[in-house]
Amino acid sequence: MTDLSALEADLTKAIAAAADEAALEAVRVAALGKAGSISALLKTLGAMTPDERKEKGPLINGLRDRVSEALTTKRDALKSAALDQRLQSERVDVTLPLPQSAAARGRIHPISQVIDELTTIFADMGFSVAEGPDIETDFYNFTALNFPVGHPAREMHDTFFFNPNEKGERKLLRTHTSPVQVHTMMSVKPPIRVIIPGRTYRCDSDQTHTPMFHQVEGLVIDKGSHLGHLKWILAEFCKSFFEVDDVKMRFRPSFFPFTEPSVEVDIQCSRKGGEIRFGEGEDWLEILGCGMVHPNVIRNCGLDPDEYQGFAWGMGIDRIAMLKYGMPDLRPFFEADMRWLSHYGFRPLDLPTLAGGLSV
Ligand code: DAH
Repeated sequence: MTDLSALEADLTKAIAAAADEAALEAVRVAALGKAGSISALLKTLGAMTPDERKEKGPLINGLRDRVSEALTTKRDALKSAALDQRLQSERVDVTLPLPQSAAARGRIHPISQVIDELTTIFADMGFSVAEGPDIETDFYNFTALNFPVGHPAREMHDTFFFNPNEKGERKLLRTHTSPVQVHTMMSVKPPIRVIIPGRTYRCDSDQTHTPMFHQVEGLVIDKGSHLGHLKWILAEFCKSFFEVDDVKMRFRPSFFPFTEPSVEVDIQCSRKGGEIRFGEGEDWLEILGCGMVHPNVIRNCGLDPDEYQGFAWGMGIDRIAMLKYGMPDLRPFFEADMRWLSHYGFRPLDLPTLAGGLSV
C-alpha cells in the first residue's frame, strides 16, 4: 500500500513549486487525472473488504480533498499574481491628454468658411445660390455683358485664353463671376434674386492679387428694384458679415460695361505695418463693384429692359476674408501650408449661423 503521507508530502511540494497555471495543471493531472496517483488509490477501494474500506476510505478521500483544495488555492494565487503583473505592465495614465483624431485636427479653409458665412447672410435675405462654369466663352464672359469687341475693358481683365479651335474661337478662364448673371437671366424667369460664389482667374500676382481668386456675384432682377435697395443690401451684408453695428463704406462713381450707373464700394480699414485691419484707420480697401444692370445686358439675355430692371454686384471674397480675419497676404491662401491652415482655419463642426455667430 502506498505511503499516503509520503505521497501527500510529494504533491504538496509539487503544488508549491508550480510556477504557472500550466505547471499546476500537470500536477493536478498526475494526482487526480484518470491515471493519476490519487485516482489509482480511489480505485482500490472497490476491491477492499468493508472493514478495510472503513479504515482506508476516509484516509484516501481526505487526501484527495486536501490535495484538491491545495490545487484550488494555488490556482487562485497564480491567477491573481498574473493579473497583478498585467496591471503593472499595462498601466494607463488617465491624466494624459487624449491624442486628437484626424477629424478634430482638420480645419476648414478661410475661403470655404467665408463662402458659408456670406451664403448664410444672403440666404436670410431671400437669395439662392447659382453656379456656372469656370471655362467660359467670349460671349458669356464679355459680349453678352456689353463689352464691345475690341473694347479696352477686355484688356483690363488680363484674361487667360485657351488655344483657338478650328473656327478660331478661344475659350477662356472666366475673369469674373458676372457671366453667371447671363446664364441665370437666360434660364430663370424673373423675379431673380441670386448670389454666385466661385473661382475667377486673371493674369495678376502681388500681395492682394493672385491668378486664381474668388468672387461672389449678386443679381436682382424684377420690375422695381433700384440703387437704394442695393445700397441697403450691401450695408446690411457688411454689418452682418463683419459682426458690427456700423461699417464705414464709400460709394464711388465708376464704370463697368454691364452696369449703368456703375459704382465701386470701398470699406474703411488700416494698413499699418502691411496688415489690413477692419474697423480702424483712415485707409480704404475696394471690396466690390456694382450698379444697375445695363439695359443692353437684359436685352442680350432675352428679357425686355422696358419691363425688367435690377442691380448686380461683384465682390472679392478673398479681400473680405483678409479684412475680417486680419490676414496680411493673399498668396498663402493658395499654398496649402498646414501651419497656416491650422492657424487661420476653422473647426469643421462650428458652422456659421446668424443666431449662433458667423465666425465662432
Ligand atoms: N465683374 C466685375 C469685376 O470683376 C465686378 C462687378 C462690378 C460685378 C459691377 C457686377 C457689377 O455685377 O455690377 O471687376
